Amino acid sequence: MKKIIIFSIALMSLPALTLAQKSGDQIFKSVCSACHTIGKGKLVGPDLNGVHAKYPESWLISFIRSSQTMVKKGDAKAVKIFNEYNKIPMPDNNLTDAEIKNVINYIKQNSTVKTTTTVTTETKTETKTETVKETKVAPWTPSDISITSKKVATELNARDLDNSMWQTVSATNIPLAAQNIVYPNLHETSLAQMSVKSVYNGNKVAIWMEWNDTSKDVFVEVDQFSDQVAIQLPVDVNNIPSYMMGNAGGYVHIIHWKAVWQEDCENGFRDVKDAYPNATVDIYPGQESQLDRSRKLQSINIRAEEMVEKGTTFNMPGTASGNFMSKIKRQQPVEEASAVGFGTLTSMEDQTATGWARHQNGKWTVCIIFDVNSGNKYKAAMKDKTKIAFAVWDGNKENIGGRKHYAQWADLILEK
Ligand code: HEC
Repeated sequence: MKKIIIFSIALMSLPALTLAQKSGDQIFKSVCSACHTIGKGKLVGPDLNGVHAKYPESWLISFIRSSQTMVKKGDAKAVKIFNEYNKIPMPDNNLTDAEIKNVINYIKQNSTVKTTTTVTTETKTETKTETVKETKVAPWTPSDISITSKKVATELNARDLDNSMWQTVSATNIPLAAQNIVYPNLHETSLAQMSVKSVYNGNKVAIWMEWNDTSKDVFVEVDQFSDQVAIQLPVDVNNIPSYMMGNAGGYVHIIHWKAVWQEDCENGFRDVKDAYPNATVDIYPGQESQLDRSRKLQSINIRAEEMVEKGTTFNMPGTASGNFMSKIKRQQPVEEASAVGFGTLTSMEDQTATGWARHQNGKWTVCIIFDVNSGNKYKAAMKDKTKIAFAVWDGNKENIGGRKHYAQWADLILEK
């Protein structure tokens, strides 16, 4: 019996022994670089240039593993840096001591002596001298993946998914990762990669995306979500912010396609009545006068589209006030939004991007078109190149919000 137990313990510990230890380079690029640079300015978190010399190694190991544990214990240094960064918690890392040492070593190797990241500029006025502190963010550095946008001379139309020009453009393969850096997170990927093509015609850029997803999820109900894809562009190509929704002072422009909106565009707004045919809802006050006698029984018999047509949206404040998110009659399945760090995503007033999609043979094909330079200071503007990042949601795997697949910044080069 003893022998058997010992034998099975040895077996159980085998997988742990064979698990490959991650290198500092791998860990930094896949986890830390969402929020930190080494010597290129701050992103979500501080510039880590020279941080190996700022603290003892044992402190760094504990902090990198779980900074919040240290903050909660009242560690003075951890509390100080946490407060300096507006109490944005750095997520815990499930790394071994050896792996954390690898990443500290990587930071050390890539650090320069220069440790300052704050630029101070003086502005003289007649009456007083004002000191303006600006924080530098990371400038352009080439990414591992590059997408070339082919120059075409035609008008671009997102609905023209079968346009023969797409056959002449080569696709770039974009590997997708599970977003498990911040909560709510995704543990496992269900989508491995997507295929991306791009063309531009001087004024507009088109991004064509295709990925395998056998379940077409276009409805939103309790615990059931819609398939989605979003592209993200830096607003200023000279200041590349964190690929995770930007960072303080580093805006990103997001264009987000939603299968549920595509369905609205193609088949009309999906009402509560469509999702729950047997539901009963009382008539809202004020609605009686809008109805003939036969329909006075239940509010559910009144379709939102009809209320919009009759101009009786007084019980739908979002729609009545023109909130883009509450739109009933949609022409576009995409939303343009702006973000400047986690939790700051905001729908834009100026919605000019267009999109269209198709689900066929177990694949989504989505095209999104936007301006090379719209003149809106919160939207991406580019001359010859920019960065682009992607997020994809698999609706039937409960992907929603931050629980998504993502790809870090890739270069988007406009062909000469
Ligand atoms: C989601 C964003 C995020 C990720 C990912 C992240 N950090 Fe941080 N990090 C922060 C923030 C924000 C701070 C500032 C302290 C705080 O708010 O707790 C910080 C602080 C630090 C500090 C202290 C810096 C100083 O100057 O005192 C170190 C060291 C550090 N992080 C290392 C890492 C390493 C190594 C990784 C990757 C394994 C990593 N961080 C991943 C956001 C992040």
